[in-house]
Amino acid sequence: MTTTLFNLQREHIAHLQRAYSEILADNGLDSLAIYSGHASVHFADDHAPPFQAYGHFIHWVGLADVQHSWLVIQPGERPQLYLYAPADFWHLPTQLPKEPWVAAFDVHLCSDKISPPLTGNAAIIGDIERLATNAQLASKAAIQPEAVVKALDELRLFKTPYEIACLREANRLAIAGHQAAQAAFIGAASELDIQLAYLAASRQRESAVPYQNIIGLNNHAGVLHYQHYDLNAPKQRYSLLVDAGRRFRGYCADITRTYAGPDAPAAFGELVTAMQGLKDELVKGIAPGVSFVALHEQMHHHLGELLVAHNLFKGSAEQAVAEGVTRAFCSHGLGHSLGLQVHDVAGLRHPDGTPAPAPEQHPALRLTRTLRPGMVVTIEPGLYIINMLLAPLRNTSLPINWQLVDQLAPCGGIRIEDNVAVTESGFDNLTP
Ligand code: GLY
Ligand code: MN
Ligand code: MN
Repeated sequence: MTTTLFNLQREHIAHLQRAYSEILADNGLDSLAIYSGHASVHFADDHAPPFQAYGHFIHWVGLADVQHSWLVIQPGERPQLYLYAPADFWHLPTQLPKEPWVAAFDVHLCSDKISPPLTGNAAIIGDIERLATNAQLASKAAIQPEAVVKALDELRLFKTPYEIACLREANRLAIAGHQAAQAAFIGAASELDIQLAYLAASRQRESAVPYQNIIGLNNHAGVLHYQHYDLNAPKQRYSLLVDAGRRFRGYCADITRTYAGPDAPAAFGELVTAMQGLKDELVKGIAPGVSFVALHEQMHHHLGELLVAHNLFKGSAEQAVAEGVTRAFCSHGLGHSLGLQVHDVAGLRHPDGTPAPAPEQHPALRLTRTLRPGMVVTIEPGLYIINMLLAPLRNTSLPINWQLVDQLAPCGGIRIEDNVAVTESGFDNLTP
């Protein structure tokens, strides 16, 4: 661990201690127990799907796969970690990392699944629905008090320098995977082989990915959350879209790259280059005080210009936006908050916790906040040929170049996604 990361983590923990003390005091609480969560086994089996711990738990300890464990926070006291570590010859015992948080905590290794010790006015947060002790806990503490969870979500929205350093490292590791994926595509690999190349180069097993990697060749690039990996490479190679991440100490990278293949029409390669330019342009728009909704609307304006410039729309950019053409080509939001969850918390709230829902015309937008220093967001403009969304426009008189649309359809779509921190004076693109 570098001295910088070491010191930054110590400062991060001190910051959490101060912030939690304030939030507990504001809510009249003496103690707060945070449950890590646990995986449920498959029905009638003893195996469980990959697990991701509760974000507010990882915020302190950075361990994204810890289960059946508790963290108890009391103002002015050392954090108490009750780490489930059974004597078990089937599994390797839980190992603590060599990180400064360990020295700042009292760590109790528990051979059994425990209930947390609660003092005074207590609250519990986390996924305790399936705990056998649920009712018993509810009698002793407030469960999931909304004001507390909202305040802690708000805290997570603003990253400490330590968290930004972790997100930058997650990006560095993920980019190595993206480079290997591109090389595999050039080598005519299948989706599965591109995925395996990505995992190997980004040094992670599949169960550790922060979200299921999207590896779409050809028309699969136009399925927004395409969920399969074809075993065989297609004969024609029009395009590849890779939306793939990596965790570092719990923090997630969420990066997308799109490539034109040897069989793509020249227009597709030109569109990929234009979308990379659009991503860069939108990244430059990030600064404190900027409304993310306004930046999303700016993306649509630029998409309108791009459709006109590339002969996909024979009207004006303004008409393309006003008539919903840009929304048919890009139905998702400009981006979202990023942190311990890929789609991080508090994106659709005002600072006081009241709801700030997505605009009616842009229901998929996951972030409606005004940008402030410390926020980390994704910027991910897209352009897709999705028949389900474009078909209703075919029966209109809108001047869409359907011939070109049909020519581009085998390429699926384009998304370019970077991870960007908001700084005091502008932005810091964490994606190398
Ligand atoms: N990887 C999911 C997203 O970009 O939001
Ligand atoms: Mn993504
Ligand atoms: Mn994203």
